[in-house]
Amino acid sequence: MHRLLLSSRQTFGRVSLKTLVAPPSTFLSAPSCQLTCTKVFSSDSKFPKSSSFAARHIGPSTVDIRVMVNEVGLKSIDEIVQKAIPASIRLTDELKLDPAIGEHELLSSLKEMAAENQVWRTYIGMGYYNCFVPTVIQRNVLENPGWITQYTPYQAEISQGRLESLLNFQTMICDLTAMENANASLLDEGTAAAEAMAMCYRQNKRKSFLVDCKCHPQTIAVVQGRAELFGIKVNVVDITPDLDMHEACGILVQYPDTDGCVQTNLAQVAELAKQKKTVVCVATDLLALTLLTPPGELGADVVLGSSQRFGVPLGYGGPHAAFFAARKEFIRHMPGRMVGVTKDRHGNMAYRLALQTREQHIRRDKATSNVCTAQALLANMSAMYAVYHGPRGLQRIGQRVHNFARVLAKGAAEAGFELVNPTGLYFDTLRLRPTKPMEEIRSRAASARINLRFYDDRATIGVALDETVSEADMNDLLRVLGCKSSVAELAERLSPDEGLLASPLARQSNYLEHPVFNSYRTETAMVRFLKRLENRDLSLVHSMIPLGSCTMKLNATTELTPVSWPEFSQLHPFAPTDQAGGYRALFQQLEAQLAEITGFDAVSLQPNSGAQGEYAGLRTIMHYLDSIGQGHRKVCLIPMSAHGTNPASAHMAGMKVEPVNVTRTGSIDMRHLLDLTEKLSDKIAAIMVTYPSTYGVFDPEIREICDVVHAAGGQVYLDGANMNAQVGLCRPGDFGADVSHLNLHKTFAIPHGGGGPGMGPIGVKKHLAPFLPGHAGHDHLNHLAKLPVSAAPYGSASILPIPWAYVRMLGPDGLRRASEVAILNANYMMKRLEKYYKVEYRNEAGFCAHEFIISMNEFRKSGIQAVDVSKRLMDYGFHSPTMSWPVENSLMIEPTESESRDECDRLVDALIRIRAEIDDVVQGKLPSDDNPLKNAPHPQSMVCSSHWPHPYSRELAAFPAPFVRPENKFWPACSRIDDRYGDMHLICSCPPMSSYKAMASSTGRLQSAERARSRDSSSSGSEQSAVQEKSKQSARECRKRKKLRYQTLERTARREERAIEVLYLQLD
Ligand SMILES: Cc1ncc(COP(=O)(O)O)c(C=O)c1O
Repeated sequence: MHRLLLSSRQTFGRVSLKTLVAPPSTFLSAPSCQLTCTKVFSSDSKFPKSSSFAARHIGPSTVDIRVMVNEVGLKSIDEIVQKAIPASIRLTDELKLDPAIGEHELLSSLKEMAAENQVWRTYIGMGYYNCFVPTVIQRNVLENPGWITQYTPYQAEISQGRLESLLNFQTMICDLTAMENANASLLDEGTAAAEAMAMCYRQNKRKSFLVDCKCHPQTIAVVQGRAELFGIKVNVVDITPDLDMHEACGILVQYPDTDGCVQTNLAQVAELAKQKKTVVCVATDLLALTLLTPPGELGADVVLGSSQRFGVPLGYGGPHAAFFAARKEFIRHMPGRMVGVTKDRHGNMAYRLALQTREQHIRRDKATSNVCTAQALLANMSAMYAVYHGPRGLQRIGQRVHNFARVLAKGAAEAGFELVNPTGLYFDTLRLRPTKPMEEIRSRAASARINLRFYDDRATIGVALDETVSEADMNDLLRVLGCKSSVAELAERLSPDEGLLASPLARQSNYLEHPVFNSYRTETAMVRFLKRLENRDLSLVHSMIPLGSCTMKLNATTELTPVSWPEFSQLHPFAPTDQAGGYRALFQQLEAQLAEITGFDAVSLQPNSGAQGEYAGLRTIMHYLDSIGQGHRKVCLIPMSAHGTNPASAHMAGMKVEPVNVTRTGSIDMRHLLDLTEKLSDKIAAIMVTYPSTYGVFDPEIREICDVVHAAGGQVYLDGANMNAQVGLCRPGDFGADVSHLNLHKTFAIPHGGGGPGMGPIGVKKHLAPFLPGHAGHDHLNHLAKLPVSAAPYGSASILPIPWAYVRMLGPDGLRRASEVAILNANYMMKRLEKYYKVEYRNEAGFCAHEFIISMNEFRKSGIQAVDVSKRLMDYGFHSPTMSWPVENSLMIEPTESESRDECDRLVDALIRIRAEIDDVVQGKLPSDDNPLKNAPHPQSMVCSSHWPHPYSRELAAFPAPFVRPENKFWPACSRIDDRYGDMHLICSCPPMSSYKAMASSTGRLQSAERARSRDSSSSGSEQSAVQEKSKQSARECRKRKKLRYQTLERTARREERAIEVLYLQLD
């Protein structure tokens, strides 16, 4: 939320008494660690604490710090900070935050806060439903650092587990929606709809988009917000087949709609749209599709929605994975990431991110979207939910929910309610018009602690059911409606000739027939499956992940624990705000913390990724400029070195990108900036700067840069991805930034989840505060006139306890210390490596910020590239640093403060050894095409093969350093991935059974595939309507296409296998 926090430096501290009197940590008072300690309570000496959180979070010990400082050639960590950060911006004051508290105290104060959230039974619907998170998934995925601390799977060879799982997600979406391609995944349903609109516009450049008035209101609002700056006119209408569509780039329909009604004319609407070359987008519900004819069979071009109710907690709005599926002709225009099947260098099937992987860096403002961090972890949870239940299980859940809805409809009718539903068809949601006074229902619901949807018309209510609803819940609901009959009695009266399954829209096609959805029924099998995938991925539980610009630091258990508490996880985002007192306190305190840390006046917690924050921030700027009569300013200055999401977000905010040169040291080229501001002066809306720069250097001219842009009438957007070098040391709001996003999933300890969740709140100066994103669905945000950027008022609210806990447990001293050590670790490693690799950028004093870049250009002549070093690092048990961004053929190393000196040394030692291996190639001791780098990574299958034709030993391949031992070896799952092959033979859903034979024989557990659903229970005896016929035919075609794809893949795989066999025979 974003009430003004102007006086936060004076007034911060809306925390409980208990937390305020918490003693400072013993770590911070340790004499050797040069931290100022505020006050030591006398009881501390008598009852010393076992340890502080800071000591657990920060890797190097005080002794290590001294050694490292020496290695860098200085005397104290303060000196390093002085060398790295320009004096003109260094913070002289302490952050005005409460002192650190310990882990157990933190948990008890969070418990107190959580107790202020009331978990009522909630039937509000609107795209958010309660569900059972299978405990086997909760414990083994959601709460398992092996799954949650991975990075986005750019390094495919050490990410095969989650890539396989994301492919399952895509397959699940394709099957349930009957579409040909699906991505993995988007931020929420609202933004998925906005992406769909943008894709429609890219298709035909028509500037109007029709949205069904029966879409979820938050979806409509997000779409309208996105359209505004694009100049697309959104018409919210009742979409019927007689609508004039010829000028619309696309239409968006909700199926079933927000009131629960299942439209029967979707096929006709789609047919008509096709004639007008208008793209048909359908927002849908996955559980409904277990019973309902899928949109793909009714002519949809794009199908989108949220996968939340497939095993992901409500979490007061998020995080959840949205899905986006489209016909194959749209595949190259789809937003977000897509996993594809390819082969490794030995011809084995493997997975990797296809097509759009890094497209923002290449296509910048022409990119299909700005989506970078999405919701990978949540997509994995949903896919696992489908694996766990299988098609039969899902169908049973769908059937149960639907039958309860039928019972409710009967009960409501008996109690005198009118069903507001033009077709009479529904899945799980009813809109009802009571004859009794609304207040009566309200008060009965409140006394039973039940939340219903009370429509704004004050005349109707909505009730949406879900898989957690029990018979007892149903009886309570019926009582609230004033129905005298019980569930059992009403159920007796259900007729098999009624309901969805008896309608022409009953689903005829099978789904989820792939073995992966039919093989893990028992928990034993499920746990082994989860473990098998987890074991294929390198995460922070194995070693450091030194990805520059990504800040892969400790995600502490105490920080993560509250995320699963029901008080945080089971609240519906549109539950009355008086039930969310705990969340309100959390938001207020977190906003105040972040405002204090950044020097801004107001904070919005709505954006749920860094790139979403960029878009939100730029939109805020555009609205502000408009309000002061400067709406004509559209140019956004973006340095060439910027992250690809910057130009992509600027484009989304309706801006025109003007690149600014950077100097050889990575700083903004002041002369070029001055030229541009002179040339474009009254067109400039903003500059986007990353600070410290993407080259890992604190630009000494940052104040001047901000001044120049301000003087030209523009605003300064600071990309806060590198905030980990600044917290407690300098504040963007002090040195000239007007707005900035923070990647809470980097600096503030939210785990990266293998590609999301994330949170990208923005901080702004006072003048921008009125233009922050609002949200009509929330008391505390609806005073803001501005449309939302996310579907939920507070984005991914349930992960916000993590940054709150991080700040509370480190306190002002610990936070500053963390930044100092992050800078120290980077400079220490740089110092050790500079004798072996060319370090690209440093400041004038020769220091970097919290990350640095080493170049591989000098080895290019010998054929060695950054990618070879990256892959070779896998053999040493490491994830590669950021590869070839922002500088081509380089590695950007960011150790973070959480890595110990030992771990930093291990990575440095690995790189030094690799340098020696490079020398062997450079000096011709090893061929340039057959050496440990070119052949890296070396998976177990390669090292253990009886064929070893290489001119170096297997031992060197697999155990290249004394610290890589059989007992701690992390084996890459496959050899080097062939990206090009994958993109040329694009397959983005699960490959056929035969590809799994190897796996099957190794576990001996693959059971025969279950049939997806029993046809007997469906509309037997009833006459097949035209729609059913069409749907059947479409399902047949879909199956045929899939079969063909599988056959092609199998043929290719067989060909490859044969070729390799021949090769081996020749070698023999
Ligand atoms: C400098 C920079 N800006 C923006 C982003 C985008 O953030 P997100 O991935 O959360 O969308 C990143 C992500 O890596 C980044 O490094």
